[in-house]
Amino acid sequence: INNGGFTSVKRSFLFGWKLSEVKFEDVRVYLVERKMGRSRRSFLTQLGTSKGFIVEDVLSDKVTHVVSENSQAASLWKWLKECASMDLPNVHVLDISWFTDSMREGRPVAVETRHLIQDTEPTSAEGSTHTLMATVSQYACQRRTTTENNNKIFTDAFEVLAESYEFNEIEGRCLAFRRAASMLKSLPRAVRCLGEMQDLPCLGEHTKAVMEEILQCGCSFEVKKLLSDERYQTFKLFTSVFGVGPKTADKWHRRGLRSFSDILADRSIHLNRMQQSGFLHYGDISRAVSKAEARSLRNIIDGAARAITPAAILALTGGFSRGKEFGHDVDFIVTTPELGREESLLPEVIDGLKKQGILLYCDYHASTFDVAKLPIRRFEAMDHFAKCFLILRLEGSRVEGGLNSAEGDGRGWRAVRVDLVSPPMDHYAFALLGWTGSRFERDLRRFAGAKRGMLLDNHALYDKTKNEFLAAETEKDIFAHLGLEYIEPWQRNA
Ligand code: CTP
Ligand code: MN
Ligand code: MN
Repeated sequence: INNGGFTSVKRSFLFGWKLSEVKFEDVRVYLVERKMGRSRRSFLTQLGTSKGFIVEDVLSDKVTHVVSENSQAASLWKWLKECASMDLPNVHVLDISWFTDSMREGRPVAVETRHLIQDTEPTSAEGSTHTLMATVSQYACQRRTTTENNNKIFTDAFEVLAESYEFNEIEGRCLAFRRAASMLKSLPRAVRCLGEMQDLPCLGEHTKAVMEEILQCGCSFEVKKLLSDERYQTFKLFTSVFGVGPKTADKWHRRGLRSFSDILADRSIHLNRMQQSGFLHYGDISRAVSKAEARSLRNIIDGAARAITPAAILALTGGFSRGKEFGHDVDFIVTTPELGREESLLPEVIDGLKKQGILLYCDYHASTFDVAKLPIRRFEAMDHFAKCFLILRLEGSRVEGGLNSAEGDGRGWRAVRVDLVSPPMDHYAFALLGWTGSRFERDLRRFAGAKRGMLLDNHALYDKTKNEFLAAETEKDIFAHLGLEYIEPWQRNA
């Protein structure tokens, strides 16, 4: 349409290149074409070049002055961060006023505040976008994740989506959102713009789209829709009962049941023992367990185990061993150095708790552990050690600072969930590492298989290339076998 315009661009380029000498070696200008438009950009390029300025065609780390016209600060910076492979803090991002002032003066004028297009997003102590991204591994076991989550706005949304996929048994997508959330939890600060996502692992099209929407609108509409979705709400309610998983929730939902009173009123529904206890103690066990309550339970279990054998070993594991302030239960390893003795230890501990009158529910699983059957090559949700899932009665008088009870609860006690596992001492380190939990432990297994040709589970570590088991006394030994830097439990909140 406009051949004349094209010719003039070409001519001015030749003019600038051939006839102007460079006067200011240290200044390299880049003109942002966005908003400015192509023809104005070439006119300004010609003008700058004729005055002895170097005007770069592409944005590279050589550029010292980025000049933009009519741009909104936020969108300009967002765009710059997306396309820049350079350290942005080292360049001046300037309004056209700097350029016109410089043209008028015939030299690059000093940068003043009024020339600057300020980044509206605060820069953190961590510095440039690239220090955030460069070193993030796709494996949680190669990341340090404390309980401080700088990306809660995204991870909360991902958890809703993951849950929804879990309810619908779409495992792949559920896992994708959980892995993405876990990765984000490890970052030293919040993800602030689209460009920062490019180099991060574990993010796919869908996860990125959700994040982009949250960045732009403050929330995800897909998540909002789910939160008000009747099916999601019902599944969420039903699966909050101890002993109810997605399959049972689905069965009840299909029958048209929508509330606890619907379930309890339906005489054709059979609740198993676990679910009965779940309903009976619903208020208590859906309430978070505090650190002080966990400490008190530790003393109770410790006393019960030592009454059986003074050599008993008790270790806190699960979320509280990762330094969490609250948990949905308290997890312990209870064992003894005397090999084989651990099998009868657990029933005896349970018996002791019963005699104290504090055992409200007990689901005991005897050991099915057999060294001869190791290594286990297919995935199993549960390990083979002796274990029990309990509900205990915890007296307020035994808790420093009192119980974490609801306001107006005058009973002086509450029900709490406690898990105990009892591995033989020569497998203690593997059980401890496994039960410390979170995505960290799942990625350790995945890492072992994919990167080291090894099989890791709660029982053992097997080297498939050497065809041998690798013994370990401590968690550190296991990390060393895997060629991984040791990561403390409080840094495993993946
Ligand atoms: N575990 C298991 N088999 C089960 C239940 C738990 O092997 N049937 C182990 C897992 O290794 C899991 C760990 O126990 O990683 C902790 O599980 P859980 O108590 O559910 O999670 P926490 O991380 O402790 O979180 P919370 O604070 O909510 O309890
Ligand atoms: Mn736990
Ligand atoms: Mn548990």
